[in-house]
Amino acid sequence: MFSTYIYRCWRNKIKLLLSIANDSVLLICVNTRLYYILRLSPDYSQIFFEKKLPYNNSFFRGKMVRAWLLSEEKVLTPKYISLDELYKTSGVEYYQIDTNNYEDDPLLKNLIEQRDNHFVNKVEHLDDSDLIKHNTEHYHEHDEFRLIIHGCGYFDVRDKYDEWLRVEVIPGDLLVIPGGCYHRFVVDGNVEEFKGLRFLKDYGYKSYPRPNDEMDCRKNYMRRLYNGAYDDPKE
Ligand code: LAC
Ligand code: NI
Repeated sequence: MFSTYIYRCWRNKIKLLLSIANDSVLLICVNTRLYYILRLSPDYSQIFFEKKLPYNNSFFRGKMVRAWLLSEEKVLTPKYISLDELYKTSGVEYYQIDTNNYEDDPLLKNLIEQRDNHFVNKVEHLDDSDLIKHNTEHYHEHDEFRLIIHGCGYFDVRDKYDEWLRVEVIPGDLLVIPGGCYHRFVVDGNVEEFKGLRFLKDYGYKSYPRPNDEMDCRKNYMRRLYNGAYDDPKE
């Protein structure tokens, strides 16, 4: 049955994204970074594979990331917030990068250049202590650049009202979390397969667990947040 199939896809980390027509369904496999367009027979009992699309198909640009208020997690359909809202209430930026070729991605090159985050740090083979560290609420002095290469996860960031915003990240998603902004991260699915990259200013990458509101970077971040520094969406 169709529903069983979809369920199996879901369990295998192929996520159902949207139905594009009455008899077609679009699936995304987050681990292989491929999209599938499927066609259903009129009685929905059979499925035909129509097309596989690579991740960076322009059709999907800007449509991928999902963010919502964590307090609504238990609601069947949480109200998604847009990337503009995410930026406005937290200063967190989102970019989409070509993971097959990230060294040459002009957008990534530009960001690294402009913000001088030249040190690359691999995030993989996470052990239990790494996972606990990632999932403990903290901030850093400088912006955290995190690109997802393989697997998926959730970044939770505190918004202006100190509510958690949950951002689902899959390969190609790059989040920039401002220095001084509290956040945490959890891997979804197979931890052994998770791969990410951090782009840093230097190797002294320190986390300050909450509560720690006395650092200048924290005070400056709060000032920017409340003085409307993030009010205008990035173009
Ligand atoms: C980090 C993520 C987990 O600091 O926020 O690596
Ligand atoms: Ni962090």
